[in-house]
Amino acid sequence: MRISVIGTGYVGLVTGACLAEIGHQVMCTDSDASKIKTLESGGVPIYEPGLDKVIAKARKEGRLSFCANPADVVDAGDAIFICVGTPPLPNGDADLSAIDHVARMIASEATSPKLVIEKSTVPARTGHELKRALSVYARKPGVALRVVSNPEFLREGTAVEDFLHPDRVVVGVEDETAERQMRDIYRPVLERTFNCPMHSPECPKGPAAQWLVTTINSAELIKHASNSFLALKVSYANIVADLAEKLDADIGEVTRAMGMDPRIGPSFLNAGLGFGGFCLPKDLQAFVRLAERCGVDFSMLQAAEKINKQRIDRFVGKIREALWVVRGKPLAVLGLAFKPNTDDVRFAPAIDLINRLVEEGARVRAYDPQAMDKARSIMPGIEYAESAYDAAKGCEALIIATEWPEFRSLDWERIRARMARPLLLDGRNLLSPAEMRALGFEYRSFGRPDAVAEIQNA
Ligand code: UGA
Repeated sequence: MRISVIGTGYVGLVTGACLAEIGHQVMCTDSDASKIKTLESGGVPIYEPGLDKVIAKARKEGRLSFCANPADVVDAGDAIFICVGTPPLPNGDADLSAIDHVARMIASEATSPKLVIEKSTVPARTGHELKRALSVYARKPGVALRVVSNPEFLREGTAVEDFLHPDRVVVGVEDETAERQMRDIYRPVLERTFNCPMHSPECPKGPAAQWLVTTINSAELIKHASNSFLALKVSYANIVADLAEKLDADIGEVTRAMGMDPRIGPSFLNAGLGFGGFCLPKDLQAFVRLAERCGVDFSMLQAAEKINKQRIDRFVGKIREALWVVRGKPLAVLGLAFKPNTDDVRFAPAIDLINRLVEEGARVRAYDPQAMDKARSIMPGIEYAESAYDAAKGCEALIIATEWPEFRSLDWERIRARMARPLLLDGRNLLSPAEMRALGFEYRSFGRPDAVAEIQNA
């Protein structure tokens, strides 16, 4: 199929590249002309494992192109994916102005029937507004502009795999023609008739994807309800971790056993600095606002948000307690991205944490395997290290703020030898307290008071 993608952020670029990978003819655009320039010249403006390979292959085979002229892009696709940003407004609502702008553009440029697919995360009923906007601004009345909601469930860091091996594909449609067209788009994924470019252990061939056809309103609601539920799970684990600390229990043991219950499941129960990124925090807020507008009391979500915000306070409290005086001390921070395997620092707990430490007068030297450039642009005032070992040099404490798996396998003896004081504060419960103690560290984390108790007794 001929497909256009509007917006080349994390969602749009992965969607466009993967649609080309599975055999469609794809053209992508973005309002940021510099991004298109980078992409046209073979660069990839974001770090996402496997994405560069997929883009390069699809471009070479002539199925993926980038274009700064939106009119050409509207013309090039029979189906148009809207993947523009819906950032939070100061009141927590999603800012839908980019969607509105794109709707006008599609309506005024479309001269043939289009399937307009809403992929950006939006509050329920946006599809209806989109439909209205498309008909109000239509240049050529009578040209069918069908609206579909197709929420994305991609996780940054595994987005290519998630697209090619989804557990579900949800399509909110109003008629069978739209449903059929959506099925044609996803057929290679549903029937697995493409050669997976990942071919690696991270590319699971699990059960085939579920195909779920719903109304547009339900599809939109599914997305917000899913992300908010994940946020609830993380906050729940974090509060249980606080309780575990008070009760001399171990949160790792507690959540492991909880996760063995298939009704609960093991994921999203990792305690620590809490959730960040450009999806969970903003979607939670937007969902609260949606519920308020509908007159529905969803204060449990506000509680989850409050718990999440308090994670930084709690961790700063732990750091203060361990260091006694923070002012003037050199601290190493490992991890800047909001989670591993991405360079995305938007709403990253690590960034909030560093800002707090700097406010308290600490001298921070940070390291991240991928997110240093993005962090530098929003936080120029701190020092950036070449490696984790470089960051550790002369520091009074080393703080883990993002759970990059490679931090686990660092040579921790070498790290300790470089530190002025062997104090390790693990904001992601990445390491084993017993192992770190055996290596001579004073080690603190979340919800694992045994480690603290042993340090106190030592
Ligand atoms: C999230 C959803 O997981 C995707 O399904 C969805 O498509 C995406 O938002 C979106 O709306 O675009 P993502 O933002 O990439 O994906 O990140 P997650 O993997 O959900 O992690 C969010 C945050 O929660 C991270 O900061 C992570 O460190 C934190 N987290 C996650 C925890 O603190 N504990 C956990 O147990 C799990």
